[in-house]
Amino acid sequence: MNFYFAPMEGLTGYIYRNAHNAFFEHIDKYFSPFIPANQSDRFKTRELNDILPENNQGLVLIPQLLTNNAKDFIHTSKKIKIMGYNEVNLNLGCPSRTVVSKNRGSGFLSIREELDEFLDEIFSVAITKISLKIRIGKDQPEEFYDLIEIFNKYPLEELIIHPRIQKDFYKNKPNLKIFREALILSKNPVCYNGDIFTVKDYKKISLDFPNVDTVMLGRGLLSNPGMVSGITKNINLEKKLLKDFHDKIYEDYKRVLFGDKNVLFKMKELYFYMSQVFSNNEKYAKRIRKSQTLYDYNEAVSSLFNEQDILEN
Ligand SMILES: Cc1cc2nc3c(=O)[nH]c(=O)nc-3n(C[C@H](O)[C@H](O)[C@H](O)COP(=O)(O)O)c2cc1C
Repeated sequence: MNFYFAPMEGLTGYIYRNAHNAFFEHIDKYFSPFIPANQSDRFKTRELNDILPENNQGLVLIPQLLTNNAKDFIHTSKKIKIMGYNEVNLNLGCPSRTVVSKNRGSGFLSIREELDEFLDEIFSVAITKISLKIRIGKDQPEEFYDLIEIFNKYPLEELIIHPRIQKDFYKNKPNLKIFREALILSKNPVCYNGDIFTVKDYKKISLDFPNVDTVMLGRGLLSNPGMVSGITKNINLEKKLLKDFHDKIYEDYKRVLFGDKNVLFKMKELYFYMSQVFSNNEKYAKRIRKSQTLYDYNEAVSSLFNEQDILEN
């Protein structure tokens, strides 16, 4: 099985990604949170830092672009190619209203003629290999049947499917019926993504879909960064390892971010997920969320690590 780390805006940037790669094994590809494509000759500092090869040593990173403009995709792909990358991922899944209202992310799925023309243009130039990360539709799961006919016209590096529609955001369950059809209908390799929170969830997906050879993990991996070792080696996450991993991210954020407030904000975002791997985590998660200073935060994190255990896989 190939394991991919899902792109997650605000969470899986290069500080987190490098720490993950240093402490845990077996991620075949990390995907960058989306970068809006445009005609500028330079990246914004934050976007550039995130994908600079020197900030991503010893791991496989696939930069992700968000756009519905083929010229912008091509222009930005050229800059990415010059940096040494040979694959770019297109975000056709983001459900956020501000993105969708501009017909980007999963909003692009609803204007299928334009999507087809866009893909035709970017594939006719083919600066790099191109993979797509999609939802199955905007308003109805059945939109997938039209979409797959479009995707099948192009030689995708792979089709990463999060089988929800835009309207679901993260509610409801992944639509496994449509995903099953996707495996039959897609002429391109398919990767499964969605709601694998535990080793048990992984086992269920791999039993249900024995032909799937690639899964992308997001929120589950943020909660249990060692989940892949749980899957492949039946190893339970060790508290000491998690603490060392946490400390590395914390120190690196302190080094690169300006001011305690920014560090605190980043760590709180991460703890929304990471606290879930502990027993009785609610009151600790709340204390971390309410921390006003790094001192409060340190105290809350120490109590969580000292007083609670890591849940079994
Ligand atoms: C906070 C957050 C940020 C995300 N940012 C991105 C993003 O930048 N690009 C993208 O393609 N998907 C993004 N996603 C979607 C995830 O990559 C993934 O598809 C989704 O969380 C479902 O997988 P999971 O159930 O394993 O978490 C984001 C999701 C969340 C919750």
